[in-house]
Amino acid sequence: EKGGYEHFMLKEINEQPRSIADCMRGRLDAKNGRLVLGGLRDYMNKFQNAERIIITACGTSWHAGLVAEYLFEEFARIPVEVEYASEFRYRNPVVSEKDFVIAISQSGETADTLAAIELAKSKGATIFGVCNVVGSSIARATHAGSYTHAGPEIGVASTKAFTAQISVLTMMALKLGYQRGTLPESRYIQLLSELETIPGKVEKALKLNDQIEKIAAEYKDSRNFLYLGRGYNFPVALEGALKLKEISYIHAEGYPAAEMKHGPIALIDEEMPVVFIATKDSSYEKVVSNIQEVKARKGKIIAVVTEGDTSVRNLADHVIEIPATEEAFVPLLAVVPLQILSYHIAVMRGCNVDQPRNLAKSVTVE
Ligand code: M6R
Repeated sequence: EKGGYEHFMLKEINEQPRSIADCMRGRLDAKNGRLVLGGLRDYMNKFQNAERIIITACGTSWHAGLVAEYLFEEFARIPVEVEYASEFRYRNPVVSEKDFVIAISQSGETADTLAAIELAKSKGATIFGVCNVVGSSIARATHAGSYTHAGPEIGVASTKAFTAQISVLTMMALKLGYQRGTLPESRYIQLLSELETIPGKVEKALKLNDQIEKIAAEYKDSRNFLYLGRGYNFPVALEGALKLKEISYIHAEGYPAAEMKHGPIALIDEEMPVVFIATKDSSYEKVVSNIQEVKARKGKIIAVVTEGDTSVRNLADHVIEIPATEEAFVPLLAVVPLQILSYHIAVMRGCNVDQPRNLAKSVTVE
């Protein structure tokens, strides 16, 4: 059942080229410039004319929501709020029929997310679900939705569901941008073609396994970890830190790289590994200067960079090279080495990676 892998988590990490392709199958046809999301068809008008998009979720699904905030604002120019379902439901939030609410959930059973949906629905908003489990409570409670089609995810740490969520949200953002005219046709076509190459590029990123296993051996006894990224890679930093803490029990924090100087920099010494996501994008130069700041304080630097990067190599203790892609699609690739890193560290520490202590796969109580 684990397909020859030692753990479900490792199996699910390795399934990602296929699960992302499954998620895009029948929806994305770049050659003919087509993108069809069945669940969206009847609600496209509402979506296009929404005054605001509210995304609600918990945990890793909330991180996928953060990536979507960047996607929707960049391509469709609609303001987005990303809300922890547990906070949203108890805050008496301002919601109306002009809002388009997207609820993201792998299991489709998360109690807080379900309650957030009911609340938004009672205020007249349109609710769209991005769920993995077909026929789940959240899938049924929403007006419409698109399944992620990642297949069953058994490991408590979410991996392939996260990349499938981002894949659906990316397709939604591109479609919305195109329909609204905020994303010009030529650019839209270009992005669709690049999106189609992602499964192959994830496959390539998976080949980093052995290199990352060696890095894991070096840092498995660390007591803390810091993850830093900017822009589209800020949610990836949060997700990398969550993956590590939930399965290895090492304290880890994710931050937007530029926030380091407002506090976390005080933590840096020779015992602090800092994982940077420093791909060649619009904030690259700034992230490189953050790397220099950590180096000056003797922190250990593990950097996820774009293939062929030469500058970071001179600064970092370890560089992990991932294939180049559009800036907006980098999370789909950059998260993979971070999943692999936490997996190996947890295994080396003798942790139960598939069923970490105190955690459940679906959180059906608040
Ligand atoms: O099933 P959901 O996506 O609604 O679950 C939300 C969180 O409980 C979940 O993502 C949790 O944070 C995972 N253990 C993260 O790996």
